[in-house]
Amino acid sequence: MSVENRIDRLNRAPEGWRQEPAQTMAKITFVQEDGTRQEVVAEPGLTVMEAAKTEDVPGIEAECGGACACATCHVYVEPEWREAVGPPSEMEEDMLDFAFDVREESRLSCQIRISDKLDGLVVKVPAKQF
Ligand code: FES
Repeated sequence: MSVENRIDRLNRAPEGWRQEPAQTMAKITFVQEDGTRQEVVAEPGLTVMEAAKTEDVPGIEAECGGACACATCHVYVEPEWREAVGPPSEMEEDMLDFAFDVREESRLSCQIRISDKLDGLVVKVPAKQF
C-alpha cells in the first residue's frame, strides 16, 4: 500500500480511532503593581482574561465578560512577548481609549487567545482599571 493510501485511510478512520496530539497547557504569569506574581495554567483556546478569572487574579475585572466592550481587563504585555501576542485589532484599540494609563504595550486580555506559542507569557496588571 502506498504512503498516500495509508494517509488517506488514516484520515478516513472512525472518530476515536486516531490518537489526537496531547493539548499543551500554557502558563501565564500575572504581575501586580507591587511585584506580586501569580501563575495560572490555562488551556489553549481560552483568553488571557478567562485564565485570570478562573484563578481570581486581582485587578482583572472583565465586566463585559469578554465582549471587548468595557476595557476592565487591561494588561501590559511584557516586551519580550509583544511580538508573539501581536497587535490589538482596530476595535480593541478603540476600547483601549477608555482604559487607565494606556501604554504602547497595552492590550485587553479578553482579546488575547492563548495558544502553545504563548506558554510562559507574562503580563502586568495596571494599578487600577479606571
Ligand atoms: Fe470587557 Fe475585555 S472583558 S473588554
